[in-house]
Amino acid sequence: MTTQTERSLVLVKPDGFKRGLSGDVLRRIEAKGYTLVALSIFTPDRGRLAKHYAEHEGKPFYEPLLEFMSSGQVTAAVIEGERCIEGFRALAGATDPTVALPGTIRGDLGRDWGLKVQQNIVHGSDSPESSEREIGLWFPGLV
Ligand code: RTP
Ligand code: MG
Repeated sequence: MTTQTERSLVLVKPDGFKRGLSGDVLRRIEAKGYTLVALSIFTPDRGRLAKHYAEHEGKPFYEPLLEFMSSGQVTAAVIEGERCIEGFRALAGATDPTVALPGTIRGDLGRDWGLKVQQNIVHGSDSPESSEREIGLWFPGLV
């Protein structure tokens, strides 16, 4: 299979940050063999979140998602490695933490809290196009 060095944007979401799980997420990324290229801690503002999650505008969980994601600090990371976009999505596990497999970040560390939006610890870019767009949005100095 042809492989290519890629970059992905990872966010430890406000639920993960508050629970002190940033280190665990970064440890799993490094243990897998990916490289940390950039790291930052900040509270995301609504304007950038609206751009980040534009694909979900109009969905029932869109407003709760923006409210959740702007509710506190996140740890943002740019990671690098061959096929790391697909690889980090595999590390993260399924969107719904109830069914995310044990061994994954969401499966090991997440659960359903009965809220209007799933709080599932991490975000990871889902394609090279998303990665480029998201890194440009959160780490404009890198591109
Ligand atoms: P992400 O973008 O955060 O990496 O997650 P994802 O690709 O696995 O999931 P996506 O479909 O892009 O949804 C974005 C985030 O919205 C929340 N969500 N809640 N039905 C629900 O309650 C619901 N659906 C989506 C999750 O936080 C999800 O990660
Ligand atoms: Mg997504």
